[in-house]
Amino acid sequence: MTTLNFPDSFLWGAATAAHQVEGANDNNDWWDWEQTPGHIQNGDRSTVACDWWKGKRYHEDFDLARSLNQNAHRLSVEWSRIEPREGEWNADALAFYRRILIALRERGMTPLVTLHHFANPRWLAAQGAWETQTVVPLFERFAVKVAQELGDLCDFWVTINEPFVYAFSGYSDGNWPPGKKNFSLAFRVLANMVRAHAAAYHAIHRIQPNARVGIAHHLRRFLPANPSSGLDRWAASLRDGMANRWFFRALVDGRLRFPARGSVPQAIGTQDFIGVNYYFAERSAFDVGSPGQLFSRSIKPVWHASAPPFAGEIHPASFYDFLKEHAVYGKPIYVTENGLFDLGDETQARYLVSHIAAVQRAMAEGVPVKGYFYWTLVDNFEWAEGFTARFGLYRLDVATQTRTPRLSAEIYGRIARENGIAGELIEKYGHAN
Ligand code: BGC
Repeated sequence: MTTLNFPDSFLWGAATAAHQVEGANDNNDWWDWEQTPGHIQNGDRSTVACDWWKGKRYHEDFDLARSLNQNAHRLSVEWSRIEPREGEWNADALAFYRRILIALRERGMTPLVTLHHFANPRWLAAQGAWETQTVVPLFERFAVKVAQELGDLCDFWVTINEPFVYAFSGYSDGNWPPGKKNFSLAFRVLANMVRAHAAAYHAIHRIQPNARVGIAHHLRRFLPANPSSGLDRWAASLRDGMANRWFFRALVDGRLRFPARGSVPQAIGTQDFIGVNYYFAERSAFDVGSPGQLFSRSIKPVWHASAPPFAGEIHPASFYDFLKEHAVYGKPIYVTENGLFDLGDETQARYLVSHIAAVQRAMAEGVPVKGYFYWTLVDNFEWAEGFTARFGLYRLDVATQTRTPRLSAEIYGRIARENGIAGELIEKYGHAN
């Protein structure tokens, strides 16, 4: 088998998020949520996480990323540090992010910075966070501040990470803050995210005309549990429309679709690139008793007994399909997240190789994928799963802060070094299941 090659300019990286890695992030809604028993698996709390804030261990982690030949890194800035009280900017926090970006650039790595990755400043949460339109100018002002202060070090931005996951987990499942179960409110939140993204997009471009600004969309393939059942097919397509397309379409034509209404014309064409976060496929069966779950329930694969609730089927073909589908927009595509929690080294390695092979296959057919960010570099605080779901290329011992490479680190390092997937790797690990 021959090597599958990538173009020279291809970005190889890993993705992280502030609340998951920094530690001591004690001024946001997630920190508060973690303090209530029952909210996080195992009673875990983010505590020091990967100790980027106090221990400055991002230096160590970027060295690890470099040792794996990564030439890019996706991270997020924490709104609650930068604006600890409404309208008050914190110079230390801004200096911290400057040092992080400098540390990346000194290692020859391109930063991709996310402005909102799930967590909200406590003061914003107290006023309903994204539930009202008040958030729009607040988020815009925050984006302006970040672009002004960090813009000489970064011009590649994700405004909001996974709007649908944020809205659905916090307002339909209710297993994330603010823990509500109110479907129409979920779509009000999403509508405000469309407005806020659009405002931030235009504001960043006013400061940095050449900036590349987009969204990281969570895409999940919904397959009918029984393909010959019309109701299962309907349930799967309803989930697909809401979870995968509702937000994306609003950024294409400005329309807020059912169950929201109205339009946001300023959102039209506000993606310089398409960010794709892809993890799993899942089988959905029609279920009239679950309106909050879009009239369906997920059929979990057998291996699922101990897997986190968000786990689905490992299905690289769906990843390939999504990349092909999104090529029609004619924009560069970045895989802003893709990865698997620890199910054993071999399984993670097979996930990695088969999914990167899916990217290569799409590219060979003309899909303009320009970079791939594995989720994640080092095990970190996995939201409601705490430290029980571990996605890292490196294993983390939280107490000692020791990082140990998994097999996937070695393989990913080799793929990035060779800028291709050697035939031998494809033979050994190219099949996901
Ligand atoms: C999120 C990450 C999360 C990852 C793994 C994505 O939905 O953006 O924050 O850790 O999935 O579950």
